[in-house]
Amino acid sequence: MGAQKIVHNLPQKTKFLNRQKEIENLERQAVALGRPLIAVWGNSGVGKTTLVNAFAWKLYDSPPNRLPADLRLSYIVWVTAKTHELQSRKKPFGKMGLYRRNMTRKRQKEGVLVGSVCEVCAIISGVVNGESNLISLAKRKCLEGKENYVREEAHLLLKTLARRNQWLLLVVDDIDSFGHEAKGEIFTFLEEEFPTPHVAVLTSRRHIDETQIKGVYSLPLGPMPESELQKLVREESTNLGVRLSDKDIDEIIRFAQGNPLVARLTVSMLKRKTGISVSSILREWRGQKTGLQFLFESLFRPLSDLQKKMLRTITVLEKEGLSYDVDFLADICVASSKRVQEELQEIERTLLLEVVGYKPFEVNIHRLVQEYILQENPKEIAKIERGLQGRQ
Ligand SMILES: Nc1ncnc2c1ncn2[C@@H]1O[C@H](COP(=O)(O)OP(=O)(O)OP(=O)(O)O)[C@@H](O)[C@H]1O
Ligand SMILES: [Mg+2]
Repeated sequence: MGAQKIVHNLPQKTKFLNRQKEIENLERQAVALGRPLIAVWGNSGVGKTTLVNAFAWKLYDSPPNRLPADLRLSYIVWVTAKTHELQSRKKPFGKMGLYRRNMTRKRQKEGVLVGSVCEVCAIISGVVNGESNLISLAKRKCLEGKENYVREEAHLLLKTLARRNQWLLLVVDDIDSFGHEAKGEIFTFLEEEFPTPHVAVLTSRRHIDETQIKGVYSLPLGPMPESELQKLVREESTNLGVRLSDKDIDEIIRFAQGNPLVARLTVSMLKRKTGISVSSILREWRGQKTGLQFLFESLFRPLSDLQKKMLRTITVLEKEGLSYDVDFLADICVASSKRVQEELQEIERTLLLEVVGYKPFEVNIHRLVQEYILQENPKEIAKIERGLQGRQ
């Protein structure tokens, strides 16, 4: 293999432990057998994103030499709806539903709303053409009814690459968060307009097989074996400076039931609440729920009513873009922005925000609140702005 550059837009490398069998399986299917579609599916937190990212980086770091004849891996394209701010929602829901629908339209016009097959195509073309700022490029391109054009462009590009024996790997992470309609369109695109030799790897929390998408290789991702989980727990506890006995580690592993996210969350729970022992957590758990549910609930329960409501609102905002409760946030933003900040810090300490994938939360909340108020009562906006300035 001569030196060659693979162009990609992968997320950063993350720590990856074992799962060697799965990596080899992916390699066999994608590289050796040239299987065009692969779906990795499994429970939340089981490690799908981590696995597929590690797989893609492995191909990047050591491009496969088992490819037939002249074929060479040239592009790796990563698409996820999770980085997208908003998801569309079809059914209006009372007054807030109407507001939501209006905002959705407005956002569609502005190009803020993403998560369609069009954007997937625009990102493919964007990576191949070496464009930067892919998300905003995709938004722009998919505006004004140019969707079919964007799709056709990506299709032609993929065909051209194929003719030149250039291989493209597409990852569509967390396909469920694209919404039902967009997901169906992405499947159709992959079945009909994604030519060989290119390969697409999807991840999903739901089961995916041939009945949903033709020719797919379905790879269920099961629990992480104990030995691997043990390494993960040891590393996490060293990183966080939490001292654990061998017995503690065993108990955490039993509790996590093969879910690395549960294992990590348990260690961080111990870090935050010093004095709590692993066995006291487990005594409380008593096995009546999954570890993940139990952890969420026990982190959630001690929050104040206001914090709970804020967290619920933020979760809805994060998942669906807009909330029935945005007026509630508006109220507290106007009332006291210092309080908002303090409450958010408190919620942040539970790690629950991290779990719902929420990062720049303050910015989002305030933007949404502003938009809401602007629409409902433009005069109020000045009050909010004054409130925000007071925070800096
Ligand atoms: N093989 C691994 N090595 C190290 N850490 C891992 C591994 N697999 C998963 N993890 C850790 O477990 C957590 C959850 O993993 P990940 O986000 O990949 O799950 P997921 O299946 O994609 O979940 P979701 O369905 O919610 O997207 C992450 O914090 C990740 O760091
Ligand atoms: Mg994931």
